[in-house]
Amino acid sequence: MTEHGAAPDLMLELQGVQGGYGPSRVLHGLDLTVAKGEVAVILGANGAGKTTTLRAICSMIRTEGTIRLDGEDISGWRTQAVARAGVAHVPQGRGTFIDLTVEENLRLGAISRKGDLGPDLDRWYGVFPRLAERKDQAAGSMSGGEQQMLAIARALMARPRLLLLDEPSLGLAPLVTRELFERLGQINREEGLTMLVVEQNASLALQIGHRGYVLETGRIVTSGSAEQLAADADVRKAYLGF
Ligand SMILES: Nc1ncnc2c1ncn2[C@@H]1O[C@H](COP(=O)(O)OP(=O)(O)OP(=O)(O)O)[C@@H](O)[C@H]1O
Ligand SMILES: [Mg+2]
Repeated sequence: MTEHGAAPDLMLELQGVQGGYGPSRVLHGLDLTVAKGEVAVILGANGAGKTTTLRAICSMIRTEGTIRLDGEDISGWRTQAVARAGVAHVPQGRGTFIDLTVEENLRLGAISRKGDLGPDLDRWYGVFPRLAERKDQAAGSMSGGEQQMLAIARALMARPRLLLLDEPSLGLAPLVTRELFERLGQINREEGLTMLVVEQNASLALQIGHRGYVLETGRIVTSGSAEQLAADADVRKAYLGF
């Protein structure tokens, strides 16, 4: 345990996190951890509070309870400060600047960082060659899969220590989704980057994930290793379809 009370290998720790919108409470005391270097997956039905959980971590909504990043209590910080502390958020529905080119979007991802962006651009163009081929194309004219890869690459340009992904496969064809998850797994292995992924495609997410949580109406109802979740009868029935 560190002086902050968190185990040293935890990148993210939520304890008793509550939060919602105005008077309506969506999260009812979430406990969740993500160890350094791992991919954690949040599964849950529509409306369970998955997006709200990521918003709570980014301080986009008011919360109660404790949120620690790498041992430091970040609850109540401003969203900007959480981002500067190394949390990158790829929101549901992507949010690229559609009138800007691919490369302009990528450069914006590193706006809070000084120095030569060349090596980072080369790195992510290498992982996502389609972005390299289209670097002068307007983001809005790219396919859904390409825009999702752009949104992820833009988040990576900030050199985050924790990447939050909200349903990266939303609206993508199965093959594109598979490729996207292969890239995410590759980035996790090669960079050791810690990720928290909200995903409806439980099968693919648990393949690259190390740990999983099932969220139901603002509460964690099941958690375990990715293998345990993939073998869990209820999870299989509800999220894997067999
Ligand atoms: N901006 C908002 N204002 C008021 N209520 C909201 C807002 N955003 C979400 N909610 C409500 O909070 C609850 C949880 O929503 P949330 O978006 O976190 O669910 P989710 O698990 O991400 O669902 P989905 O799989 O459909 O994306 C829902 O009842 C939703 O209506
Ligand atoms: Mg959502």
